[in-house]
Amino acid sequence: MVLRIELLNNITRYTAVQRKLHWVVVLLISSQYLLQVPMRAAMANLERNQTLGAVDFLVTTIHTWGGAAAGAIMVYRLWLRVQRPVPVGAGTLHGPWRWLASGMHWAFYALVLFMVLTGLLHYYLELERAANWHEKGEWLLLGLIGAHVLAALLHHLYKKDAVLGQMWGSKPPH
Ligand code: HEM
Ligand code: HEM
Repeated sequence: MVLRIELLNNITRYTAVQRKLHWVVVLLISSQYLLQVPMRAAMANLERNQTLGAVDFLVTTIHTWGGAAAGAIMVYRLWLRVQRPVPVGAGTLHGPWRWLASGMHWAFYALVLFMVLTGLLHYYLELERAANWHEKGEWLLLGLIGAHVLAALLHHLYKKDAVLGQMWGSKPPH
C-alpha cells in the first residue's frame, strides 16, 4: 500500500532534490546574464594582455566556474529525469502542448550544455568561432527562458493549476 502511494507520488511530481537544483541553476544562469557587462570588460582587458585586477578575476571565476557548475547540475538533473520520468505540466497538458513543453525542457538541457562547451572552447582554446556560437546561444537561451517563464506564469495566474507550485519550494503542492 505504502509502496503504491509512493509510486503514484513519484510519477506526478519532482523530488525535493530536483526542485532545489532547478532553482540553483536559475540562480547560476541569472548571474551569467547579470555579470555580462563586467565579463565582457574582463575579457577585453585579457585580450589587451593586461593583468587581471581583483574584480576581473572574480567576475571571470564566477562566470566560468558558475557556468561549469550549472552544466554539471543539468547533467545530473537529466539523469534524475530519465531515471524517474515526471509528466510535463503536472499531467495537465495534452497533444501538441505536451510535446511543446517537453521539447522546451529538452532544449534547455541541450542549450545549457552547448553554452558550457562553447564557453570552454572560447576561454581555454581561444577558438573565435566558439565565441560567436556562445553569443548566439546566449540569445537563444534567453528566448527559451522568456517563453518558459511566461508558460509558468500562465499556468499559475490563468489556468490556476499546480504546475508552478510543484516546482516551487521544498514541499509538494496539496
Ligand atoms: C535559467 C532559467 C531556467 C532554466 C534553465 C529552467 C529549466 C527547467 C527545466 C529543464 C525544467 C524541466 C524539469 C526537469 O527536467 O527537472 C523546468 C521545469 C519547470 N520550471 Fe524552469 N527553468 C528556468 C527558470 C524558471 C523560472 C524563472 C520559473 C518560474 C517562473 C520556472 C518554472 C518551472 C516550472 C513550473 C517547471 C515545471 C514544468 C513542468 O513540469 O512542465 N523555471 N525548468
Ligand atoms: C550556463 C552556461 C553559460 C551561460 C548562460 C553563459 C552566458 C554568457 C553571457 C550572457 C556572456 C556575455 C557575452 C556578451 O554579451 O558579450 C558570456 C560571455 C562569456 N562566456 Fe559564458 N556562459 C556560460 C558558460 C560559460 C563557461 C563554462 C565559460 C568558460 C569556461 C564561458 C566563457 C565565456 C567567455 C570567455 C565570455 C566572454 C566573451 C567575450 O569575449 O565577450 N561561459 N557568457
